[in-house]
Order: sequence, then structure tokens, then C-alpha cells
Amino acid sequence: MSLSIIILAAGQGKRMHSDKPKVLNLLAGKPLIRHVYETATKIDYRKIYIVYGHGADQVLRALDEDSKISWVEQKEQLGTGHAVKQVLPDIPNDDHVLVLYGDVPLISEASLMKLVNAATDSDFSLLTAYFDEPYGYGRIIRNDNDNIISIIEEKDASEKQKEISEVNAGFMVVKAELLNECVNSLNNKNKQEEYYLTDIVALAVNKKTKVSTVLAESTIEVQGINTRAQLSEAERYYQVLQAHNLMDKGVGISDPSRFDLRGNLQAGSDIEIDVNVVMEGKIKMGDNVYIAPNCIIKNSVIGNNVQVLANSIIENSIIGRDCVIGPFARIRPDSVLGEHVHVGNFVEVKKSSLGNRTKANHLSYIGDAEVGIDTNIGAGVITCNYDGADKHKTVIGNDVFVGSDAQLIAPITIQDGSTIAAGATITKDVASDSLAISRIEQKTIPSWDRPRKK
Ligand code: UD1
Ligand code: MG
Repeated sequence: MSLSIIILAAGQGKRMHSDKPKVLNLLAGKPLIRHVYETATKIDYRKIYIVYGHGADQVLRALDEDSKISWVEQKEQLGTGHAVKQVLPDIPNDDHVLVLYGDVPLISEASLMKLVNAATDSDFSLLTAYFDEPYGYGRIIRNDNDNIISIIEEKDASEKQKEISEVNAGFMVVKAELLNECVNSLNNKNKQEEYYLTDIVALAVNKKTKVSTVLAESTIEVQGINTRAQLSEAERYYQVLQAHNLMDKGVGISDPSRFDLRGNLQAGSDIEIDVNVVMEGKIKMGDNVYIAPNCIIKNSVIGNNVQVLANSIIENSIIGRDCVIGPFARIRPDSVLGEHVHVGNFVEVKKSSLGNRTKANHLSYIGDAEVGIDTNIGAGVITCNYDGADKHKTVIGNDVFVGSDAQLIAPITIQDGSTIAAGATITKDVASDSLAISRIEQKTIPSWDRPRKK
């Protein structure tokens, strides 16, 4: 079978009450349309068409790197039937056409395969599901022989028809020639004044075509996303599914209902992820890693035996083995930590490298810095990297001791083995093995009469 795939993604999504095209809403950090597209690509197809319209630029951008997509514009969104019609001139009559809705993101490859297989010996197959709460979906109307004869949309359905629990999932496979004939006969005489794709069922049945229905593998996967509530339900479902997939591979997850992965996690063995951890983008974790509650990790590599303690954020960085980060630490992009590095509470590291066994345990800012091995950065140390116009570099060597509350005014170099006294403001390079101190001498006034509240 030669299969053309059409994904409908031109609608605005009025029920979201948002200017953003609906199919660009994110599910697990990925636009809805991308979920549908990626599942579609798992099937053997001739061509994938995406019908776009509302928010054209944004939709094109969301998938722009994929040159395999044939984009078709629907200038006015006059309904799902009208959307399909825009593509048909490009599709050979002998093809079968699989239509997918861009707002039904969890559809499985298994259900699609069932649907496609059902169409090998018929000209028309349709995916349906039974919903306890079918509100909003097109209902499947069957005759006394239990054959489908039409689909009736929620807004056009009688009270009796609204009681039908079998719904149109939004996926069908139709022989192109038949699809063409039916779509060209559609009218918009309905409550929404739209050209409904769903009306082609009745048209095909009138042409004596047998429409076969296939039941979706599960109801959740055919859940359409029309409202923010539906989006959040789908998100939760998907996250729990991902958590279980990871647990099946040996990752410990304290509570799958408080776990969010918006991207990919490549996981080693014996990883423990505590509650409310959010992971985004591409993350690689070694063995024996512990991530404490409330951490956010984006696009980073975390080495073996690393502990990321509560409320820490790591972004676009590389953390070497045996490091301890946090609690309340922030590792900003382009940071590289060696092995056994400690970055403690309220320490911010930005675009900096810290060598093996170096420690910055409390209340520091380390930005645009290159720090060697075995160095200690005391509490409250600040690399003053910004002069209001440009950023400057701080270089700190190996085995340096930077006393608490020191300010290092960049550009500056502190050489190996040197000591910076607590409270110093360092503006000149410090030679190796020396002590740099900048303090005014202490003055003590005896018997000082401190003002006191009367
Ligand atoms: C549609 C079906 C309904 C089904 C449900 C499943 C129709 C008429 N109704 O209803 O039977 O139960 O999906 O989720 O098909 N779109 C366009 N151009 C348009 C209009 C829509 O590309 O002119 C796209 C939308 O971007 C969306 C998809 O088609 O991705 C479905 O449209 P939507 O408005 O969400 O239809 P539903 O009311 O959900
Ligand atoms: Mg919909």
C-alpha cells in the first residue's frame, strides 16, 4: 500500500483562549504537532503533508529542520474537511491517505498500524474509542446491523445521540480517489458552518463503501487536546508513562506523579530521583547518581556518584564524577566541574570551570572563571566579572585559598598556592605562594556608648 499521511494543524484552538496555535502547546516540553509527526514517521509512508494556517510562521518553525515534510497552507480555517481538501490535488488516486489530527498527540504507533492494516482490504477505516465522558467528540452512529453509517458532531447531536459513548478518535485511512469524491461533496450546513471531514463517512456509506472501524489500543491515546485542562491531563498521563518506562530500566523514581521529564534522559544504573525533579532537554547521567527534591536539570551531563542536593538548578553544564552540588546551588550554562568538586548552598557558577576537589561551599558568585584543582573558595567570595559594559575573566590557580568575602575584580589572575585574605578586594594579579591582603587596620574604641532604645 502506498500511504500518504496528512496531519491537520491549521486550527487556532479557540477553546484554549490563547493566541498561540493550539498544536504548538507543549506536552512534555515538545509541541503537540511534533508528537503526532514523530509517531507518523514510524509508519511506512510515501509522503507526510502538514496542513498549517493559523500562526503559520510559528508552526513552520516548530518543525522547520525537517525537510521531509510537505507543507500545505489552508488560508482560511473552514473545517477539517476543507483542510484535507487543500492537500488532495497532490496525492495520487491509488494512494491510501491516513489523516491525523495535530491535537491528538498521544496516539500510538500500534493503533495507527491497526488502522492502516484494516484499510488493506477496505477503502475506508476509522479509529474509534469508547469514552465514559464523550463530551466534545464526534459520536459514531451505527445502524441495526451495527455498521457505522455516520459521525455526528457534539454541537449537532440530539440529546439521544449525545448518550452514545463511541467516539471518533480523529484518525482515518481512506483510498485517495474515494476521499477526493467525498471531500468535494461536503457542505457546511451544520451548527459550526464548517466543512466537517467527519461527514465523509455518511457520503462513503451512501456510495456503498464499507467503512470498517478499529478500536484504539487505549482511550488516553486518542484524547484530543482542546482545552488547557485536557492538556494538563495528557501531560500527567505522559509523565507517569515515562516514569514507568525509566523505572522498568532500573531508575529509582520516588513518586511517578511528581516527576517531569521534558526531553530525554540517558540513565546509568542505580540512579535515585526524589520528588519534584524537573528535567529538560538532553540529559546524561552516570551510575549511582542521587537527585534530591525540587531540582531542575537541563541539557547536562552528570557523572557517576554525583549528588545533587535539594533545590539546585543545573543548566547546560558538565558535572564530573563524585561531585556534590547544593542544596540551593545554581550551575548556569557552560560550566564544567571536575571530579569531587563541591558547590554548596547559595553558590552560583556561570560559564566557569572548577578543577578536581575544588570547593565553593557557601554564598559565592563564580562567573567567567577558570579555577584550578584543590582550591578553596570561601564563603561570600565574588568574582566581579562585569564592569557595566564587558565581561572579564578570573583565573584562579591550583591549591589557592580564597578567604571569605573576598572580591576578585576581573580581569585578574591568582596564581597557584597563593592565599587571599578574608575581606580583601583584589585588583592586581597575585603571584604564586604569596598572601594578598587589603584591609584597613582595625581601630578599637574603648568603652563605646552604643545608642540604646529608651
Ligand atoms: C474533531 C472531530 C471529532 C473528533 C475529534 C477528535 C471534526 C469535524 N470533528 O473535533 O469528530 O471526535 O476531532 O479529537 O473533524 N483543523 C485544521 N483546519 C480547520 C479546522 C481544524 O487544520 O479548518 C485542525 C486543527 O488544528 C486540529 C484538528 O484539525 O488539529 C481537529 O480540529 P478541532 O477543531 O480540534 O476538532 P474537534 O472539535 O476536536
Ligand atoms: Mg480537537
